[in-house]
This record gives sequence, C-alpha cells and structure tokens, in this order.
Amino acid sequence: MPAIPSGVRGATITGWGTALPPKVLTNHDLEQMFDTSDDWIVERTGIRERHVGGTTTGLSIEAGRKALDMSGIDPADIDALVLATTTPDRTVPASSPAVATELGLHCGAFDVNAACSGFVYGLVQAHGMIAMGARNVLLIGTDTLARITDWTDRNTAILFADGSGAVVLQASDGPGQLLGWDLDADGSAERFLYSEIGGFIHMEGKEVFRRAVRIMVDSATKSLNHAGVGIDQVKLVVPHQANVRIIQAACERLGAPMDKTVVVLDRTGNTSSASIPLAMCDALDNQRVEEGDLVLLVGFGAGMTAASAVLRWGPLPARA
Ligand code: ACO
Repeated sequence: MPAIPSGVRGATITGWGTALPPKVLTNHDLEQMFDTSDDWIVERTGIRERHVGGTTTGLSIEAGRKALDMSGIDPADIDALVLATTTPDRTVPASSPAVATELGLHCGAFDVNAACSGFVYGLVQAHGMIAMGARNVLLIGTDTLARITDWTDRNTAILFADGSGAVVLQASDGPGQLLGWDLDADGSAERFLYSEIGGFIHMEGKEVFRRAVRIMVDSATKSLNHAGVGIDQVKLVVPHQANVRIIQAACERLGAPMDKTVVVLDRTGNTSSASIPLAMCDALDNQRVEEGDLVLLVGFGAGMTAASAVLRWGPLPARA
C-alpha cells in the first residue's frame, strides 16, 4: 500500500459508544447445554461470559446514538453511515438505512461485510469519504453471531456472541488521525470459516488459529511500515477479540508486551465486527489513551480477511 498522500484531508474520532444485549451467557450456562467445562473454555480461549440477543439494527442504534451524543454532532450533519456487519437482519435490504432513519440521519448508508475485519475496513472507507469532502461520518461495527451459531456445537458455541461499537469521525483541519492502514483478503481460505445463507457457522478452529496469528502480524507490520513507525512507539494495540491465545501469539511476534494490548473477550466473547470497537471504547473509557498516543488496530476474520490501522489519537472529549 502506498503512503497516504500529503495534503489529503484527515479525520478525528470525536465520539464513541457501545451496546451489549442484557442477556449474559456464562461458561457455566454452556456446561448445561453441551459437554464442556468452564476450565477448558477459559484455558483455551480466555472467554468467561458473553452477551447474546437483540438485532443488528437495534444494537447499532443504541451504540450509534451514544457516539453521536458524545460527539455533540447534530445527526442532520452526518454525511454518511457505514455499518460493518456480517449478520444483517435481512439479506435485503442492508441494515444501515433503518439505523440511519432511526438516528435521524439524512445521508447515504451502507453495510460492509468483511467479517471480524469489518470495523477497520469501514474505518478506511470513512476516511476515504472524508478525504472526498464528507464532513462527518458515523461508523458502527455490529454483529449478532448468536443467531448463526449452532448452540449444540461446542466447537463454535463457546466463542461467538453479540454486540456493537460506534464512532463519529469528523473532518480535521490537519492530516488527522490515520497514519497507515492495510486491508487484505484471501478467498482461498474461505472454507475454514463460513456460514451458508440461513445456516450456522462452520469452522476449522486450529487452521483459523494458525492463519489468524500470521495474517494479523503481516497486516500490522504493513500498517506500521506504511505509517513509518515502529511497534515500540505504539502505546496501545487493539486486536480482534477472538481468543486470548491468538492475541498473545500475535503480540509476541509483533514485539508488543501484553500490557500494551486490550482484552475484553473474557466478558464479550467474539463479537466479530463489534470486537475492535468494543475493545477500543473500553480502553478510551478507562483512560488508557491520551492525545498524541499511537494506537494500532488489527483484526482478522472470515474470508479470510485481515485489516489494520495506525492512528495518532486526536483531542479527547472533555470527561464528565
Ligand atoms: N469443551 C471441551 N472440550 C472441547 C471443546 C469444548 N468446547 N471443543 C473441543 N474440545 C476437545 C476436542 O474434542 C479435543 O479433544 P481430543 O483431543 O480428545 O480430540 C480437544 O478438546 C482439543 O481440541 P482442539 O480443537 O485441538 O482445541 P484448540 O486448542 O485448537 O482450541 C479453539 C479450539 C478454541 C476453537 C481454537 O482452535 C480457536 O480459538 N481457533 C480460532 C477460532 C477463531 O478465532 N474463530 C473466529 C474467527 S473470526 C470470524 O470471522 C468470526
């Protein structure tokens, strides 16, 4: 990927918000559903509980509204809505127009399906639109994987869950936050992780694990090079929340200590397109990011896709 051309109008994240369905499913609940144990799930994945329920439209509205409220932007001033999801509520139409209408937006709205890489794909698209004149873009990552999970299949049911995370991006005067990015896709690996229309997720866990570590490290390295920075300069790594062992292996290969990363999957499970924004918002809410910090987002997903971005954090909203 060539470097971002100088003089291109950049963007700053000025608001964020999340939504999780109220229903919590613990590992002990899963023990009642199939042959597994809390110890096995925690040791192999790091997940302790997850939230399930709701619709992609409903969770997106809740997270999107919080992001708009924090940014203080009038919904009428949003120029585009990008909804990253691999679980729209219907095949046709996309879920984004209903979300836009409910939030009071009057603008283009479209879904992006890049599985768990979707939020970063959407982030790059949002920056592209801002470079082309959009002033404000609402970006939401939402998935309701519980609806396409076979709750009798212990290979997949221990992992997947529902949630949403949203950000408002505003055009900035200067170069903005995004310093480097990378998007990858390899259709030859599609068979390792897929769901037919109307069906459940099928996964070859070991193969996905192996490839996930490699493609996360490859993509993150490309973004860091693209941005012209080293991992030592990065304050926080925000990885896709699939399995803590994948995060540990990827961080080790990248040379990032675990205390530089964000892990929320113990409470959220794998929420696909929502996973990176849920982790990023958790770090922001816990004041782990300050103005000027470098933040690396990196994800992988079905496709198989990979995506990463290096951001230099802009001004933070005043805290209540
Ligand atoms: N509870 C108890 N035992 C289990 C369970 C379970 N839920 N699942 C499998 N086992 C057993 C297996 O049968 C096997 O037993 P055996 O040795 O007697 O044959 C043993 O545990 C080991 O199973 P493995 O599959 O080898 O376990 P592994 O360590 O690979 O962990 C896991 C499995 C957690 C699925 C792991 O491979 C993984 O996380 N892979 C990546 C998955 C992923 O990230 N997917 C999301 C991609 S993102 C997106 O787009 C949605």
